[in-house]
Amino acid sequence: MQHPIQPPGTPPLSVQKHQSRGISVIIATFFFSLLFILTLSFSTSPASVQPQPDPFLFPTRPTFPNKIPSDPSPPSIAYLISGSSGDSGRILRLLFATYHPKNHYLLHLDSSAPQSDRDRLAVSVQSVPVFRAAQNVDVIGKADFSYSKGSSPISSTLHGASILLKLSKNWDWFINLNAADYPLVTQDDLLHILSYLPKDLNFVNHTSYIGWRESKKLKPIIVDPGLYLSEKNPMFYASQKRELPRAFRLFTGSTFFILSRNFIEFCVLGTDNLPRTLLMYLSNTLSSLSNYFPTILCNSHQFSKTVINHNLQYVAFDKPSKANRFPLNSTKFDVMIQSGAAFATQFQFDDPVLDRVDRKILNRSPGEVVPGGWCLGDPGNSTCSVWGDADVLRPGSGSKRLEKQLVDFLSSGKFRRRQCIVE
Ligand SMILES: *[C@@H]1O[C@H](CO)[C@@H](O)[C@H](O)[C@H]1NC(C)=O
Ligand SMILES: *[C@@H]1O[C@H](CO)[C@@H](O)[C@H](O)[C@H]1NC(C)=O
Ligand SMILES: *[C@@H]1O[C@H](CO)[C@@H](O)[C@H](O)[C@H]1NC(C)=O
Repeated sequence: MQHPIQPPGTPPLSVQKHQSRGISVIIATFFFSLLFILTLSFSTSPASVQPQPDPFLFPTRPTFPNKIPSDPSPPSIAYLISGSSGDSGRILRLLFATYHPKNHYLLHLDSSAPQSDRDRLAVSVQSVPVFRAAQNVDVIGKADFSYSKGSSPISSTLHGASILLKLSKNWDWFINLNAADYPLVTQDDLLHILSYLPKDLNFVNHTSYIGWRESKKLKPIIVDPGLYLSEKNPMFYASQKRELPRAFRLFTGSTFFILSRNFIEFCVLGTDNLPRTLLMYLSNTLSSLSNYFPTILCNSHQFSKTVINHNLQYVAFDKPSKANRFPLNSTKFDVMIQSGAAFATQFQFDDPVLDRVDRKILNRSPGEVVPGGWCLGDPGNSTCSVWGDADVLRPGSGSKRLEKQLVDFLSSGKFRRRQCIVE
């Protein structure tokens, strides 16, 4: 039956309203998804018009050619923050805790997490005003499969590093963080200390002493399902074992590192072939990310003198063999902070000790970025909702701890004595 006042063919008013709202919702969703797909597939073509980052954060500076600057200008760090299924909350928290507008952040939720998590992560990132203003946070839309005991982490780390090389010409160091890591200093502390160091230094634990790893990690032959299957599968173990390599010297070390931009370019774009032959050799090796960068660094004349045998990360092991790591909790708080490390691992999801680090060390409120010299708001919860020059650092006690630790390491001669030693 038709409504008496309505002309024929026109639906009753309420229905019409409802329908048009329906249509506008559909259109909005469509545009939103389009925008979203564009953001996710982030076109690297230079033709795409990018809005400029906020000039309040990055003011154009007059240059005085004859003026010698009193403080070196802060460097920039490229962070790859990776996690797996169920890790988006931790990745976001880690992003807040390590945030600085001068840095670059690439978030990677590996393919064991559903695409909807990746989409939600991208939406959460888009909703933070300072991330939009600084344009320095990206989410990998097409995820890699990363199986930590195999060789696929090398490929996903190099993937992240090469995207970061393309995204920005300005960063100086590359740091790969895992969802179970957390910082022990503010970014202002870290950038302040790094600004006094040569930009070609690489921080990675390494040793040529193989020990128990020879039979357990280096001689077995494996095939990592992450390299050729699209779903989670057990690793393939061959029954044969192989000899250790003779064409180069193997070094093994930490899977956490701080690597110079120069060195990352050498690995991704370089004309020397060791990074590629080693990549192929290690594709059949267990936990091979721990061998990749240390081996290239120590087998290369260009880089072997730039390595510091310390990755600035605090870890607690259960045995001297360093086979297993302890999860860190409040009982380790003081030891961890006194170690002078810049980062620590590994933490359980939202462990209370992280809240303590936020409160006492980072001065960070829940759901907010770690405050720095660029934050101009009133002290309290939304200090960083008003911002100014990103080059202004306000280092605190964390920089003193880090400085002490580095001076200790670099001045005692330990540095050269422990650099790429063949044992
Ligand atoms: C890396 O080296 C430092 C300094 O020698 C040490 O304190 C730390 O525990 C090492 N980390 C790993 C993962 O071996
Ligand atoms: C903290 O970790 C230690 C091992 O490092 C463990 O013995 C202890 O029970 C843990 N404490 C809490 C409160 O979980
Ligand atoms: C910050 O916000 C939290 C809740 O999110 C609140 O408990 C706390 O009192 C606030 N602090 C300040 C200084 O406003």
